[in-house]
Amino acid sequence: MNYNNKTVWITGASSGIGRELAIQFAELGASVILSARNVEKLTALKDELKGGGHLILPLDLAKPEEVLSKVTAAINELPAIDILINNGGISQRSLFLENDFKVYRQLMEVNYFGLVALTKAVLPSMVARKSGSVVAISSVAGKVGSKLRTGYSGTKFAVVGFMDCLRAEVKEHNIHCLTICPGFIKTAIAHNSLNPQGVAQNKSEQAIENGMDVKVAASKMINAINSKKDEVIVGQGLSGWAPTIKRFFPRLFNRLTAKVNFK
Ligand SMILES: NC(=O)c1ccc[n+]([C@@H]2O[C@H](COP(=O)([O-])OP(=O)(O)OC[C@H]3O[C@@H](n4cnc5c(N)ncnc54)[C@H](OP(=O)(O)O)[C@@H]3O)[C@@H](O)[C@H]2O)c1
Repeated sequence: MNYNNKTVWITGASSGIGRELAIQFAELGASVILSARNVEKLTALKDELKGGGHLILPLDLAKPEEVLSKVTAAINELPAIDILINNGGISQRSLFLENDFKVYRQLMEVNYFGLVALTKAVLPSMVARKSGSVVAISSVAGKVGSKLRTGYSGTKFAVVGFMDCLRAEVKEHNIHCLTICPGFIKTAIAHNSLNPQGVAQNKSEQAIENGMDVKVAASKMINAINSKKDEVIVGQGLSGWAPTIKRFFPRLFNRLTAKVNFK
């Protein structure tokens, strides 16, 4: 598909999936708005992108009220947004019995409220034009639960529910809503995952290192956007099959997750 004269806004563009989506959308001719906290990384990425018209709009998703007011104030000055990709997020690797309670708020602010706030600020302009796609990067952890992710899974299940409801509400305005649920993708996600004190664990994991290549994952995500899908799983091996196994063999799946630490 040709994305000339289209604008795609991507959060979490400084790393991993968001960064790769920005590169591939720019190659397809789109202008990209890059958001995250790390402006240095966003600037380096912008310089690397093909084409022109790319913008940097730093956002801290952990401050959703600020996101809402800042973007609402700026939206009329920005190009019309054709695709909003709510991708920025953090994970965790920590047991419920050991977690500080604040970890749950940290995860929810970024992964859920940040996403809701940005969508709230951008969607009215799409509705006014009767055109646009809202994409949310949830997770396979938003479809099935497993150890070490009580907070993360909660946020990603919330995203799936939010998107299902939003899709129903905005269909009459011709707005497309896509929920993407990635399995293990090779990015810095494990490295940035929170420990029981809410601090990045600063180490990667075998499951992520053996995960799907981020270029392949981003290309599958763009295909799903092109095809105007409602929901897709993007993953390989057990992480890709987990939602299907859970759906048809729930007791077997629950026994498996009680035994295995997926990391
Ligand atoms: N990789 C996987 O296996 C996997 C699987 C399922 C779902 N996902 C989801 O995919 C999305 C992207 O993750 P990734 O794998 O690409 O991980 P990543 O390499 O760690 O990238 C995470 C991105 O989120 C941004 N971010 C984190 N906290 C933020 C905040 N407070 N405000 C604004 N931006 C913030 C980071 O930017 P700054 O640090 O610069 O702010 C970074 O650009 C996440 O929503 C994640 O949950 C990933």
